[in-house]
Amino acid sequence: MSHIVVISGHPELAKSNTNSLILDRIGNHFDSIDVRRLDSLYPDYRIDVEAEQQALLKADVVVLQFPFFWYSMPALLKKWLDDVFSYNFAYGSKGDKLKGKQLLLSFTIGGPAESYDPLGYNHFAIEQFMFPLQQTAYLSGMIYNKPIYSHGMVYIPGVYNTLEAVQANAQSHAQRLIVAVEQLIGSDEPALKQFAQDWFAVMDQLPENNLWLTDHVAEQALFVTPDGEFVGPQGFNDWYQVLRSVFKPGGDHNIEQLQINRNDQGYQLDLRIRLQAETHSGKQLNMLVNEQWQLQLRDGRPQILRYAVEPVQG
Ligand SMILES: Cc1cc2nc3c(=O)[nH]c(=O)nc-3n(C[C@H](O)[C@H](O)[C@H](O)COP(=O)(O)O)c2cc1C
Repeated sequence: MSHIVVISGHPELAKSNTNSLILDRIGNHFDSIDVRRLDSLYPDYRIDVEAEQQALLKADVVVLQFPFFWYSMPALLKKWLDDVFSYNFAYGSKGDKLKGKQLLLSFTIGGPAESYDPLGYNHFAIEQFMFPLQQTAYLSGMIYNKPIYSHGMVYIPGVYNTLEAVQANAQSHAQRLIVAVEQLIGSDEPALKQFAQDWFAVMDQLPENNLWLTDHVAEQALFVTPDGEFVGPQGFNDWYQVLRSVFKPGGDHNIEQLQINRNDQGYQLDLRIRLQAETHSGKQLNMLVNEQWQLQLRDGRPQILRYAVEPVQG
């Protein structure tokens, strides 16, 4: 089984709103994973090089999880890198110990996406700020992967963002990270299963803001439903408004069966759902529906291409 090592470079996770949540989620998701929280392991910044190198030797995938500090990584993580990527370990004539391992950077950024642009106040693209780490991967023979990052992750009470918004971003970051790691270790299935669960968790609540759902709907996605056919994110939104007008929030979509098959376009999910819900007029509903989803993964994010719902006839 592939082994994952996550190095957390946050200097004070007890005060984190996002990195701590991402670490908890990825730590709980995989069986063979070692999440190394440097702030609690080394509060004095004295890194145990031997222990860290031993941990890395066991890894197939190395994730560096950190908050973006001054266009770079926090000092604690830089100290870890300086000490652990030593001569004849990470580089030098015998320095092949990390060769062939997957490196994945996962980080949270305070500033908005549009600021990281030649015309924005941060001037450079995020990828450009990562060049030193990219080259570090190349020199040590590691495989550099497209980084996973999220913007707008600062919460300043009463001034900037809400805690709920920042934590929702952290949840979706964690999901993207899990999908990316799954892809690296060669299995998308758990991430697809997670997506189906996350999807229905939102559908249970039918919140007014359905951006998380529409974000997973491809431009030309086709929805075939008992309420008619709908196309794309706008069409999905139309259907969603129909559902909101009929059902009260707080229903339950229970996934009783789930089968995932790979095909030319990505993945087909066959689901059997037990739906329990109440209508605004007070009618209780308890029914079985078959659903068939065609999904593709784009940059690790599930995108719905086709979504068919059919009630099971008794
Ligand atoms: C010392 C420090 C430096 C920071 N530098 C940047 C920066 O250069 N660019 C940016 O967009 N955000 C910057 N931020 C915002 C952090 O990226 C943000 O607080 C962090 O990602 C939130 O993670 P957490 O919730 O896990 O603490 C900085 C924050 C601190 C404390």
